Amino acid sequence: MNRIMQISLVTGASSRIGEAISPVLAKRGWLVIGIARSPDKLSEIKKDLKDNFIPLVCDVSQIESINECSKQILEMSLCPSLFFLNAGIAGESAVENPKKFDLKIHEKIMQVNYFGVLGWIEFWEKPCLVNGGANFIATSSINAIFAPPTGSAYSASKAAIAKAFESLQLTYFGTNLRFSVVYPGPVDTAGLKGKLPFTWKPDKMGKCMVDFALSKKSRSEPFFFYRILTRLLRALPARYTMNLLGNLQ
Ligand SMILES: NC(=O)c1ccc[n+]([C@@H]2O[C@H](COP(=O)([O-])OP(=O)(O)OC[C@H]3O[C@@H](n4cnc5c(N)ncnc54)[C@H](OP(=O)(O)O)[C@@H]3O)[C@@H](O)[C@H]2O)c1
Repeated sequence: MNRIMQISLVTGASSRIGEAISPVLAKRGWLVIGIARSPDKLSEIKKDLKDNFIPLVCDVSQIESINECSKQILEMSLCPSLFFLNAGIAGESAVENPKKFDLKIHEKIMQVNYFGVLGWIEFWEKPCLVNGGANFIATSSINAIFAPPTGSAYSASKAAIAKAFESLQLTYFGTNLRFSVVYPGPVDTAGLKGKLPFTWKPDKMGKCMVDFALSKKSRSEPFFFYRILTRLLRALPARYTMNLLGNLQ
């Protein structure tokens, strides 16, 4: 198994946050296995990062696809020690119809944002335990702390994965597997409606994610403004919360 070069795996590598993580890792000498469904976008990234980037197409909503992709990685004698489990349905695609509750959107979002993260852990638990350990990093969201209107599925998925990781962190305490969670606030995203204050550029978020992953911390809430605001929005009575939200859009 190749553990000479440090190996990382990034899901959602074709866009924004995931796309921004890969060059930071590559610049620091890591080999990045970039995962997404869009081969064209991954090929573009490969042109920039060259030998530091291995593109692999995978649909994380399908456990068979995660297993198949993981087997390909093992066949290359690679065992990642850093997993950015970042692929997610977010932004506009996660917004619900306020006039019609739909269970389907919950199933679809959980399949990617929750099971599409845990599938990697099921496959890699044993290989990583015997090959020097790994850090699994989940990209949660400030919406795990405050759930906005029309975001019930998205918020639930981000809270669920964060809680699963908190528990796994303790379950595997004393082993060489670590589980950490990042709670980003708004990162410049086409899908983000309105003009939210204190949004970050993907590059800043990418660097922050890598610094966090290489630290010994298990939790990061890097958006100070949203750390306060989410607690406030949650504590207020609903009509004040809705007023405040109206002013933010
Ligand atoms: N942007 C924000 O403001 C923000 C804030 C807090 C948390 N987050 C979280 O951060 C993560 C990344 O967000 P982002 O803004 O960078 O999202 P994005 O630009 O919408 O990118 C989503 C990424 O996930 C991949 N993906 C989606 N469904 C997939 C599937 N079924 N199989 C494989 N890959 C899939 C997409 O690749 P393909 O389409 O090529 O498959 C893409 O690379 C998400 O988990 C999101 O919830 C974002």
